[in-house]
Amino acid sequence: MSESTPLRLTDSHGRVATDLRISLTDRCNLRCTYCMPAEGLPWLPKDEVLTDGELVRLAGIGVEHLGIRTIRLTGGEPLLRAGLEALVAELATLRTPSGDKPGLALTTNGIGLADRADALVAAGLDRLNVSLDTLDPETFKTLTRRDRLADVLAGIDAAVASGLAPVKINAVLMRGINDHEAPGLVAWAGEKGVQLRFIEQMPLDAQHGWRRSEMVTADEIHAKLSGRFDLVEDPVDRVTRGAAPAELFRVGSTPQRVGIIAAVTRPFCGACDRVRLTSDGQLRTCLFSREESDLRGPLRAGVSDREIAERWVIAVRGKLPGHGIDDPTFLQPDRPMSAIGG
Ligand code: 5AD
Ligand code: SF4
Repeated sequence: MSESTPLRLTDSHGRVATDLRISLTDRCNLRCTYCMPAEGLPWLPKDEVLTDGELVRLAGIGVEHLGIRTIRLTGGEPLLRAGLEALVAELATLRTPSGDKPGLALTTNGIGLADRADALVAAGLDRLNVSLDTLDPETFKTLTRRDRLADVLAGIDAAVASGLAPVKINAVLMRGINDHEAPGLVAWAGEKGVQLRFIEQMPLDAQHGWRRSEMVTADEIHAKLSGRFDLVEDPVDRVTRGAAPAELFRVGSTPQRVGIIAAVTRPFCGACDRVRLTSDGQLRTCLFSREESDLRGPLRAGVSDREIAERWVIAVRGKLPGHGIDDPTFLQPDRPMSAIGG
């Protein structure tokens, strides 16, 4: 590769990665049962976590040299990262070769967002996703092992008030715990003016408690909702869906849309445009990768941007065609979701 050859993150199956997901921390202030054990996890030592400067440099290489157009900040819980507003402001100064600012998105559990949404938007954030699985305080306690529903709801209100639209709400349904709430959540989302998306539970919990036979499937969710709402498939959406994972439905004749993300039963790997960077500087081509490529080592050893870009290209080239969750030989990744980033 010559110095001037523009690089792209193309894999051997013809997909091009343009969406970079960065986990800012593996820590979290909730303990969702589908994610973490009650006692938490052995967190990454601080010196292994990328500094803001390192993170901005890697993101800059992606945006300036590798065709990254959108950056999503995740965790653990990204609001726990000290100085997040300043980091967003720095990322907002990056420009693609055609001079565009990359789209900046945040996926958060909403705790603390009430006080920070405006500052994050002022810093350059473009999109907000908040996780919410239940509207019942007791069920919230059961699911997340923390009594924080009111904080999350206040965070969602702040997200809506910040003017970023549509605010997207991610919900995971767990059988016998909150799956009866699906229609109630849709009604609530309609009133709030947020876009609710149900995500099939994936095998990403540190405790390896996921069972295919237990998970609530997209078809079941659709059936539950159809009992109460007239869900209309949007034909335009089919065409424009691209790499977006959610199947979107209109709710009756209202402007409301609800999404179902069938990550397990109808995988969208063939259209995947993502690549992930963990908070300790490891590149992953999939949530379910069993391999990582170290970028922190070379970065700290002082290699050039070009060399890091080339390592990144090589890592993405080897991206596997799919996650294979529904395959009998599927093996869960060693790292839990909280360390990889959602
Ligand atoms: N399966 C599906 N979604 C999950 N999330 C966390 N763990 C899982 C899982 N095992 C979701 C969270 C959040 C987003 C980052 O990922 O609810 O919305
Ligand atoms: Fe925290 Fe998100 Fe995991 Fe829940 S799913 S424990 S909010 S990282």
